[in-house]
Amino acid sequence: MRPECQRCPSLGTNGDSAARCMPGRLYRRPSSAYRVGAEGKAEPSEDPVDETRRNFLKLVAVAGVVGAIGGGLGAAFEYAGRPPVVGLSSYPTVQLLDLDGSVLTASKVMAEYNVTTSDVLSFNYPLANEPNQLINLAPPTGGSGGATQVKGGVGPKGSIVAFSAICQHLGCMAPSIAFYPAGTCSQRFGSLAFYIHCSCHGSTYDPTEGASNLTGPATRPLPQVTLEWHSSDDSLWAVGVTGPPVMGHSNTLQGGIGVSALSQLQRQSPVVLCNFP
Ligand code: FES
Repeated sequence: MRPECQRCPSLGTNGDSAARCMPGRLYRRPSSAYRVGAEGKAEPSEDPVDETRRNFLKLVAVAGVVGAIGGGLGAAFEYAGRPPVVGLSSYPTVQLLDLDGSVLTASKVMAEYNVTTSDVLSFNYPLANEPNQLINLAPPTGGSGGATQVKGGVGPKGSIVAFSAICQHLGCMAPSIAFYPAGTCSQRFGSLAFYIHCSCHGSTYDPTEGASNLTGPATRPLPQVTLEWHSSDDSLWAVGVTGPPVMGHSNTLQGGIGVSALSQLQRQSPVVLCNFP
């Protein structure tokens, strides 16, 4: 017989209603806390309380609360133990400096660098571990060729652009990825004889069209730095980045320390290899 059941000694003598207790039949004991009185109302029971069961339930409840608090503290300690996410919340406005640390002006760029310049001129933006290549696509003074008023181009001829110097294929960096002036390789893309090429596996990008892909294996364009030219003082500024995230970063603003309010050009010799797929 189940412990909560007992045999009814006589009609209605169990304290429950007569309809629920027939002599000799099993009936379920009323709640240990309350039972139904003779008038059909709930009355406090005189049955002994099962202290062992009550204490066990209390123990389970307390253990649940302690477990929940302990789990929360554990998660808090785990969070505090993680390295902080390093980066920026928005794109900074950064003034560009020349190789010698002086203010870089569009006039200097137009005079010293042009579409025939093969040296890699790079500056970091927006993070210190995100180099970008500055390119002037205009022809040399008095010369021809090159390109002006290109996508994202600034300066008096709209020919100064800047792109990430980290390849979108597997992340080879400048000087392995570099601007190839016309004649560096025999390869051409229609009328386009100059391009950005990565010597690691042959990816090629069009600097006149926002570094769109000319050859793989990269399938995404290079991120392009948004440049501003302040004609009032001829200064050049980096104010943002468009396109995909810099290769190796899930977000161009995250994964490194932000640059200061100034970013200086650095010069490198390119690693030239005409390995087009
Ligand atoms: Fe540039 Fe592979 S890393 S083509």
